[in-house]
Amino acid sequence: MSVRIGVIGTGAIGRDHARRINQVLTGASITALSDVNPEGAKATQAAVAPDATILATGEELIASPEVDAVLVTSWGATHEQYVLAAIAAGKPCFCEKPLATTAEGARRIVDAEATAGRRLVQVGFMRRYDAGYRMLKAVVEREIGRPLMVHAAHRNPTVPEQYVTPMAIHDTLIHEIDVFRWLLDDDYVSAQVVFPRVSSHAHAKLKDPQVVLLETAKGVRIDVEVFVNCRYGYDIQCTVVGEEGLASLPEPMAIVVRKEAKLQNAILTDWKDRFIASYDVELQDFIDAAAKGTASGPTSWDGYVAAISSDACVAAQEAPGIIVPITLPDRPALYA
Ligand SMILES: NC(=O)c1ccc[n+]([C@@H]2O[C@H](COP(=O)([O-])OP(=O)(O)OC[C@H]3O[C@@H](n4cnc5c(N)ncnc54)[C@H](O)[C@@H]3O)[C@@H](O)[C@H]2O)c1
Repeated sequence: MSVRIGVIGTGAIGRDHARRINQVLTGASITALSDVNPEGAKATQAAVAPDATILATGEELIASPEVDAVLVTSWGATHEQYVLAAIAAGKPCFCEKPLATTAEGARRIVDAEATAGRRLVQVGFMRRYDAGYRMLKAVVEREIGRPLMVHAAHRNPTVPEQYVTPMAIHDTLIHEIDVFRWLLDDDYVSAQVVFPRVSSHAHAKLKDPQVVLLETAKGVRIDVEVFVNCRYGYDIQCTVVGEEGLASLPEPMAIVVRKEAKLQNAILTDWKDRFIASYDVELQDFIDAAAKGTASGPTSWDGYVAAISSDACVAAQEAPGIIVPITLPDRPALYA
């Protein structure tokens, strides 16, 4: 049986996910679309989902008998209401990050899902589905002994004028915050932010670059350079230092060119290209679980912990050099 999926929010990523479900993946089709901007829903319908019905509201879409599972790809501030409605309807729900814009909002989702008593929510932390990170995790678990340190970097060539200092956490570091918990099977206990000399390419409301220092419950120390005006490319680096050796995230595949006395390969510049293949894998996982009436992959709990950890990092930005503790509540049995 094909899973009938409704998409709430047909902007850039909503439309792209609808395309992959209808044209690339197996076991599902898009049967409904909804967007506060009806023109956006119509454009997505025309481009990639001709058989989908356009519904006026997200709530109507969730309630529709033509919809078995829901994709929430609207603006972040609207995610919570739709995820809660999907849980109440007992329908599997894929929610793009962030799960909610506050930790309290994410907690409400955790509580609702725990009360429902079964996994219904997958959060869109797609790096867990990236082939490179999966290879790195396998090596970290089997070959380099106990992890001791992680050195990482998240670099963008430029960011728009409206990108301000806290967005370096909520929009950029959020992916590292999730993927290192998964990579190390660990949780954070503290965060600290230090600011190096500011790049002359940063604007008045953005301190760039910044270095985020995280400490985990097992004692691993993580340093992440977030540098969103690095100019040269979109570059994700991650090296795990273990007791017996080091393991690094592979570089994206690129042709090596020898020319004019130089050895070169191109570096990506657009973030959309870096984890493009992982979106296919994450949504196929969603479809396969939804066909069984459940969800897999990153949980509401992961979304909640990411929100708590992000808030601590923003507090650490506001008090440079101060170590901000991160305390997690007890994990409900559903997420054991
Ligand atoms: N995992 C990733 O790498 C990744 C990448 C891109 C975006 N995202 C996330 O996906 C979400 C959407 O991002 P985007 O780039 O597609 O943004 P976008 O602005 O292109 O699209 C968002 C769409 O949601 C619609 N919308 C807003 N409020 C709505 C509501 N209440 N009900 C229905 N529709 C509503 C807007 O009209 C718009 O069409 C964001 O939360 C973003 O953080 C995640």
